[in-house]
Amino acid sequence: MKAAFLTGYGGNEVVTLGEVPDPVVKDGEVLIQVHAAGVNPVELAIRAGHYRQLMPLAFPHVPGFDVSGVVLQAPVDSDFQVGDEVFARLSNQTSGAYAEQVAVAQNLLARKPSNISHIEAASLPTVALTTWQAFFERAHLKARERLLVQAGAGGVGTFAIQLAKHVGAQVTATAGTANQAFLKELGVDRALDYTRERFEDVGPFDVVYDGVSGDLTERSILSLAPGGRYVGLVRMSDARAFMSLGLPEPVARAAAANVAGFEALAASRNAEFHGPLTRPDGAQLGEIAALIQDGIVQPFVSQVFPLSQLAAAYAALATGHTRGKIVVDVIAQDVSKA
Ligand SMILES: NC(=O)c1ccc[n+]([C@@H]2O[C@H](COP(=O)([O-])OP(=O)(O)OC[C@H]3O[C@@H](n4cnc5c(N)ncnc54)[C@H](OP(=O)(O)O)[C@@H]3O)[C@@H](O)[C@H]2O)c1
Repeated sequence: MKAAFLTGYGGNEVVTLGEVPDPVVKDGEVLIQVHAAGVNPVELAIRAGHYRQLMPLAFPHVPGFDVSGVVLQAPVDSDFQVGDEVFARLSNQTSGAYAEQVAVAQNLLARKPSNISHIEAASLPTVALTTWQAFFERAHLKARERLLVQAGAGGVGTFAIQLAKHVGAQVTATAGTANQAFLKELGVDRALDYTRERFEDVGPFDVVYDGVSGDLTERSILSLAPGGRYVGLVRMSDARAFMSLGLPEPVARAAAANVAGFEALAASRNAEFHGPLTRPDGAQLGEIAALIQDGIVQPFVSQVFPLSQLAAAYAALATGHTRGKIVVDVIAQDVSKA
């Protein structure tokens, strides 16, 4: 089958298009004809080799975690049938979305909402599950709480703002000057231009959901009210996150040593520090699909690239200024081939 794959660790020079073996479908797996695959920043770090110790890759490696497509083959006792439209967040161990077909464990799949396209559905799984787990398993966000979303105009932020408004939170979000109107369109109570304003001046917050981290982590923790919760997404993984990948507790604690200072800072202020990693989960994705189907949350896709242009999609993502999501149209490649 045709796929976009990595030939080794590196930059865009290791991204290429070619033939790879068809997927081997294991017991309990569903074979999907991929229509579209969502692009996520973590893929740039994986491509560069930053995760080579935790998740070593064998090359050629087909990346991509977010997929939407149609069932080609399903186990006889499956909830899914040939022809069903489905979407999924693939497992960290396998990935493989940038290919004509992928085999997916049934428990990672959900039915695609019928009111959105495959391109839109493929934009959702990682950002939606990350936010769902951050809000409901970590921060326990509640109605009327004051939430700050750092990087409100990106993939995670666009979903987070809409979900938080649905929960009933009071939402402040940050973006650059060009994205202030977009934040308002998403429904924020207060849009902040990080090039001109300091979020500390409009705090304190009950929850900070931080898709930037780095220099903003300490400032974000200091902007929390007592009882507040900080959830950091960028190189902020805590021991609980590493244990969710299957690491034994002592190894997980050692791997999370870089966040110990932030955990102590938060604790000293009667607040919590959280550094989750996205967990694939078909049941949660089904709950998210219901919100999409009811029109409560909408996908925002700003750029679509054909499979042959994965390197260009990665270059666009690497600017750090994507509005909403970038998606790869995998089926368009089939059409051009015919
Ligand atoms: N821990 C996990 O499991 C997990 C899961 C998902 C994502 N993440 C990470 O979370 C981060 C965000 O993900 P994403 O998918 O939303 O990325 P993204 O779509 O690439 O984010 C781009 C957005 O970031 C905004 N931005 C850039 N610098 C900013 C700043 N200083 N303050 C506020 N906004 C800023 C940009 O807005 P402007 O153009 O207006 O500047 C742009 O809209 C990534 O680093 C990703 O790897 C981690």
